[in-house]
Amino acid sequence: MGASIVKRKVLAAIIAVTAAGAAIAAEMKPEYLVKVRQSGYTFMAWNMGKIKAQTVENTAPFNKDEVAAAANAIAAIANSGMGALYAPGTEKATGWHETKALPELFTDKEGVKKVAMAFNKEANELAKVAAGGDAAAIKAQYGKVGEACKGCHDKFKAKEEKK
Ligand code: HEC
Repeated sequence: MGASIVKRKVLAAIIAVTAAGAAIAAEMKPEYLVKVRQSGYTFMAWNMGKIKAQTVENTAPFNKDEVAAAANAIAAIANSGMGALYAPGTEKATGWHETKALPELFTDKEGVKKVAMAFNKEANELAKVAAGGDAAAIKAQYGKVGEACKGCHDKFKAKEEKK
């Protein structure tokens, strides 16, 4: 048992800690946070599209399980605490593209809370209704979720890329 083994173990531990630190730092980078929030919204939109096609436009056959899975995915994102992705430094950062979050989103805390809570409520209700498998009821609740998405966008999302 030489001192060199101990030294090597200590060195390995130091490297492991440093690597973990670097990973955490990367996750905190504004560019990363903006990418994650843009991805989250895009993923919700993809799932909304499936529900719309099967219950509103009827361009795809209604599949209860697919719709329920899509609604659960939307509710899961709604419940995931996306507010953490709006950390300081992300106001003007570029993720997949320049952020479209308006400055008010970072100042009007009460206003954001209101639209976010309204959205959460409707998204969770959609998951509940979708589990029931009644296409007409799902269509109606889908409409409410869509309005809640829009309720936030109208106030806090730029229509075009910010310059
Ligand atoms: C609490 C506010 C809020 C709610 C609720 C919300 N969004 Fe958004 N959405 C935003 C903001 C802010 C952005 C811009 C994010 C950025 O670019 O940093 C955005 C961006 C998007 C984008 C563009 C993503 C990209 O690649 O830039 C899509 C698509 C989208 N939202 C769809 C939805 C859908 C669908 C819902 C409802 C199921 C929804 N959003 C609910 C605030 C919200």
